[in-house]
Amino acid sequence: MTFSAPSLRAMASEANPAANPWGPEPTPYEALGGEDRIRAIVDDFYDEIEREAPTLRAMLPRDDSVSRDKLHAYLVEWTGGPARYTPSRGHPRMRMRHLPFAIGADEVEQWLACMATALDRNGVDGDIRAFLDDRITALAHHMQNQ
Ligand code: HEM
Repeated sequence: MTFSAPSLRAMASEANPAANPWGPEPTPYEALGGEDRIRAIVDDFYDEIEREAPTLRAMLPRDDSVSRDKLHAYLVEWTGGPARYTPSRGHPRMRMRHLPFAIGADEVEQWLACMATALDRNGVDGDIRAFLDDRITALAHHMQNQ
């Protein structure tokens, strides 16, 4: 039998209603430390792409500042913070927005490796790290289109 991630979380909180999978904070956004910390993670992520992932870098505009802003807005909203993405960009439709880019298994791994480095550099660990690793890995694999 397979369980979806939400039903696993529902089972966890039934056992202990005070326990969120990301820790004691009300939302993953708060567990992460809010907008500024997410900004630092996004900047470290793109800096790591610049250094280590030429295939991913080649997909981005020469000036990647708008890409940084979009990922920041998305992550703030997705983790339960203020709605920074949908009011200006609309429904995320992430898989569809990624279809113009050739994303195979290697690109997924490189993306995840750069994100892991950024999370390491910002000291994201413990329950929130385990939660994010789980959810972001699933999302990244969902983006694979080759
Ligand atoms: C799996 C490998 C992935 C690759 C190769 C990839 C690559 C890209 C590229 C090339 C863009 C266009 C950048 C731009 O418009 O400036 C983009 C946009 C974006 N990506 Fe990814 N991405 C991946 C996974 C993810 C994941 C896992 C997330 C979410 C956690 C994500 C969130 C976004 C967002 C929010 C945008 C902006 C969409 C918009 O135009 O509003 N991406 N991505």
